[in-house]
Amino acid sequence: MNNSEFEKSLFNDLAAKHGKNSKSLNYGSEQSKIIRSIKASEIIHDMIRSHSLKSTILDIGCGFCDLFSELEKLIEIDHYTGVDIAQNVIDLIDKDITTDERVTIICGDYFNMIDLGNMDIVANIGALNYDHNLDSVVEKITKMYNSSNIGTVFTLSSSIQPVDERGSVAYWDPAEIVKLMFHITPYVRLDHDYLKREMLISLTKNATV
Ligand SMILES: C[S@@+](CC[C@H](N)C(=O)[O-])C[C@H]1O[C@@H](n2cnc3c(N)ncnc32)[C@H](O)[C@@H]1O
Repeated sequence: MNNSEFEKSLFNDLAAKHGKNSKSLNYGSEQSKIIRSIKASEIIHDMIRSHSLKSTILDIGCGFCDLFSELEKLIEIDHYTGVDIAQNVIDLIDKDITTDERVTIICGDYFNMIDLGNMDIVANIGALNYDHNLDSVVEKITKMYNSSNIGTVFTLSSSIQPVDERGSVAYWDPAEIVKLMFHITPYVRLDHDYLKREMLISLTKNATV
C-alpha cells in the first residue's frame, strides 16, 4: 500500500467508526483541531492583508472544512476549494458548507490529480502528517507553493527525535525544515507556539507588509 492509499484507508475507516469527531481526523482533541484552523486562518489573514482582494483558497486535506469556517470570520472568500482523499470524511461536512455557492469539494489525492489551477492561498493542515520521506514532503510543499498566487501555509509535527514508523505521524525538526524552505522563498514564517509538538509554516512570494 503506498502512502496515499494508506491515508485514504486510514481516514475512511476512522470516519466510518467515529463520525463527525476529531478522532476521525486522528487529532487528539476537539480543542486542538480548532486551534489549528484558528491559527492557520490568522496567518492567512496576515498573508493576504496587503493584497486586499477577495481570495481564492485551496484547502488540501480539508477534513470537515474547519478552515473555511474560521477564514470566513476574517477574510472575504471569493472561492474555497476543499480536497480530501477520504469520501467518508467529505460525507460528514456540514450541508450549509457544501451547498455554499463559494465552495467546491473534490474527493481525491491532491498530489496525484489534474492541475486545479493556481489559487491565491494553498493550505494544508494535517495532510502531510503521514509522509516520512523528507524529499517527498519538500516536493509536495514546492508544488503547493508553485500552485499559489500569494503563498502556501501548512502544518507538520515537530519533535527533537524524528520517528520513522509507517502509520505513525512523521516528526520533523523545525530548524531543518525552515532551512530547506529558504531554497523555495526568502519569505518564510514559522509559528511553533500554538500547540505542543506542531509547527505551522507559511511561505509567501513577497513580504507580507
Ligand atoms: C489530520 S486530517 C486534517 C483535516 C483538516 N485539515 C483539519 O485540520 O481539521 C488530514 C486530512 O487530509 C486528508 N488527506 C490526506 N492526504 C491527502 C491527500 N494527498 N489529498 C487530499 N486529502 C488528503 C485526510 O483524508 C484527512 O481528512
